[in-house]
Amino acid sequence: MIIGSKIIYKDQLPSTNTYALELIDSGKPEEGTIICTDRQTTGRGQPGNSWESEPLKNLTFSLILYPEFIDPSCQFLVSMTISLGIRDFINKHAVFSSIKWPNDIYVNDDKIAGILIESSTMGGNIRFMIVGIGININQEEFRSQAPNPVSLKHVTGKTYDLPECLNDLTACIDSRYNELKEGRIEEIRKDYHRNLYRINKWTMFRDDSGEFTGRIQNVDDDGRLTIELKSGENRFYYFREVVFIP
Ligand code: BTN
Repeated sequence: MIIGSKIIYKDQLPSTNTYALELIDSGKPEEGTIICTDRQTTGRGQPGNSWESEPLKNLTFSLILYPEFIDPSCQFLVSMTISLGIRDFINKHAVFSSIKWPNDIYVNDDKIAGILIESSTMGGNIRFMIVGIGININQEEFRSQAPNPVSLKHVTGKTYDLPECLNDLTACIDSRYNELKEGRIEEIRKDYHRNLYRINKWTMFRDDSGEFTGRIQNVDDDGRLTIELKSGENRFYYFREVVFIP
């Protein structure tokens, strides 16, 4: 077991991703090290966003990886792997979830988890990846401007034991990370696409030139999304170049 082989628990932290970066700056923490807190005071989301998490209600943690076996141009494979691990965990709890490109986990049309990956490359290799994961578990009320948050408790009505959830989730991510390490990449690609939110479904999107209808066809190993238009033309997007319109 790599993921969660070492868990650093802190009662309170501004951001587990920031703490992980500090650890890397001052040494080389073991691969799979997790930094976890029950109270994240200034959780970071995708650029420009914060991450809301009520103290003691959810999982907020960061995972340190050294996927040196992956070419930096294919590093989205790691994001696919982590998304699948989270999706496996949610589905184990009898909730059907899907992966919304590029880095959210959805239950129906609501967001249950977000991933923030911060990586560094050097000399053509991945030096490290910090995978920040926030999963809404027991929170019932959300106060931020996030448009559509949902928690496991909302969906199942149950209250969950957080350490048990962390244990289960790390096992799910570990199993997927092993698939990646063993080079079972085709399985990862296939499972990722099979579980992709709104794949092959006509959907409204917005890009620089306005709103349009299209359907998702594919996500490449570098994270590029392919959307087919009704005319048959394909459009290609990297992160933040296109958004879904609810
Ligand atoms: C997003 O959906 O915008 C990404 C959210 C990522 C939140 C997690 S919570 C643990 C880790 N530490 C942070 O500051 N952010 C990530």
